[in-house]
Amino acid sequence: MKKILIINGPNLNLLGNRERNLYGETTLEKIKLLCEQHCKNNEIECTFFQSNHEGELIEKIHSANKDYDGIIINPAALTHTSIALLDALRATSKPKIEIHISNIYAREDYRRKSITSEAVNGIICGFGENGYILAIDAIKNIIYSKI
Ligand code: DQA
Repeated sequence: MKKILIINGPNLNLLGNRERNLYGETTLEKIKLLCEQHCKNNEIECTFFQSNHEGELIEKIHSANKDYDGIIINPAALTHTSIALLDALRATSKPKIEIHISNIYAREDYRRKSITSEAVNGIICGFGENGYILAIDAIKNIIYSKI
């Protein structure tokens, strides 16, 4: 069975309490269940991970080269700042999709630049929690079209 890694960056553990006007009422736990269910329906195994620490995120990305067939990542604020995360993503040859709950291109100037997206196959943003489902469908397509 194909395996994907879904990675979430800083402050996403606060979803449901945090800036609900932007990110909605849903919690990360609910998004995790949604993703697990959608992956199961698509016969994909998924690992759902969140950390507030850049180094932990980097190490998780490193693990993808041997343990996973693809990565979906919401790097949160590190999207706009982290060359280290960009380099880690570049160092994995597996397909990668970046996802954001909000439309980062309709927000503050400093969110309109995604450094990390330079290393991914594609980016999905502005569709709320449903973006995770779209990203699973997208990565499945990429993984299977490469066989
Ligand atoms: C976010 C957008 C980022 O700009 C922000 O720092 C986040 C969440 C999103 O999912 O919309 O923490 O990645």
